[in-house]
Amino acid sequence: MEGTFCSHSFKFLLILLAINSYINFSSAGRQIAPQSSAEFIRTSCSSTTYPKLCFETLSTHASLIQTSPQLLAHAALNVTLSTTESTSAMMVTLSKSHGLKPREAEAMQDCVEELSDSIDELRKSISEMGQVKGSNFGLMINDVQTWVSAALTDESTCSDGFQGNNMNGNVKTAVRTKILRIAHLTSNALALINNYASLHG
Ligand SMILES: *[C@@H]1O[C@H](CO)[C@@H](O)[C@H](O)[C@H]1NC(C)=O
Repeated sequence: MEGTFCSHSFKFLLILLAINSYINFSSAGRQIAPQSSAEFIRTSCSSTTYPKLCFETLSTHASLIQTSPQLLAHAALNVTLSTTESTSAMMVTLSKSHGLKPREAEAMQDCVEELSDSIDELRKSISEMGQVKGSNFGLMINDVQTWVSAALTDESTCSDGFQGNNMNGNVKTAVRTKILRIAHLTSNALALINNYASLHG
């Protein structure tokens, strides 16, 4: 008799626990829902030089980023890399187009090389970012900061090549606009990496 009573109350207890954890689970679920991740991204982006671009390009990855400064920096590098790759591909196509002045074609080719270096540096950074942990945090994050800064330098070197007066205005504007976007994305990624680094300092 007593055993039956026990097992009844045990079941009742289990049901109570289940209901309770269901309630807890759903309210916890609400906390990590897109809303708060979007807020986290907005707040983090506000410390970058180009907050609007930062939020626009990263909020679409909110479900992956959640509220992790590491994933945010990682996503920023991902976005920068894919934009740099597509711009580089566009430049290769442009550099082969007819009607370019030799000076323009040359600047275009130099730029493709600079972007290719930049892509290497971003790829190295992304792979290191995925491995950053524990005892070697400082060294690894330092590497990432160095490579991303180098990528930024390569991008501005590319952009500098398009300053001459003897260039088609449309070509110049198109290229500079694209490169500027990459440079701004890179600068934001660096700011988010620095922010992540400072949390572990
Ligand atoms: C970065 O890109 C890789 C490869 O596409 C992907 O697996 C990873 O989930 C991305 N990480 C973030 C935080 O966006």
